Amino acid sequence: MIELTINGDTHSVDVEPEMPLLWVLRDELGFTGTKYGCGIAQCGACTVHIDGMAVRSCQRPVGDLAGADIKTIEGLGNPETMHAVQAAWTEQQVAQCGYCQSGQVMQAAALLSQYPQPTDEQIDAVMSGNLCRCGTYPRIRAAIHAASAKLQEG
Ligand code: FES
Ligand code: FES
Repeated sequence: MIELTINGDTHSVDVEPEMPLLWVLRDELGFTGTKYGCGIAQCGACTVHIDGMAVRSCQRPVGDLAGADIKTIEGLGNPETMHAVQAAWTEQQVAQCGYCQSGQVMQAAALLSQYPQPTDEQIDAVMSGNLCRCGTYPRIRAAIHAASAKLQEG
């Protein structure tokens, strides 16, 4: 058994330590907000936070994660109490098909932890690594600036 801390709760899972976190989240524990895109760390659809850092869960074996603080999109906020990034995403109507957006939101939240008032160049450098086939990058950038302003206001 491997004990994982996800969104503040402890979960025990009986899986091989080599199993990537993404499969444990989705297939073992039902956290289906995190998406499978490529499985080879190239698209960012599976992005979650581990100890506050944006991480591609498709390439992170769960055996390495005992004691880590894992956060998924389900733990970032909810419709009643949205994280500033989720609120800005909604206001700016960022999503198109939506498939990549859970990963985009998690990446953006981590970006704002690192750069509370990011420049366009910092946003583009980080967010271009999360692939969006619908091309929502202009709205992603606008939403990150809006979220940054919300966080500055407190
Ligand atoms: S599914 Fe993990 S980066 Fe694409
Ligand atoms: S919104 Fe469709 S892939 Fe990004």
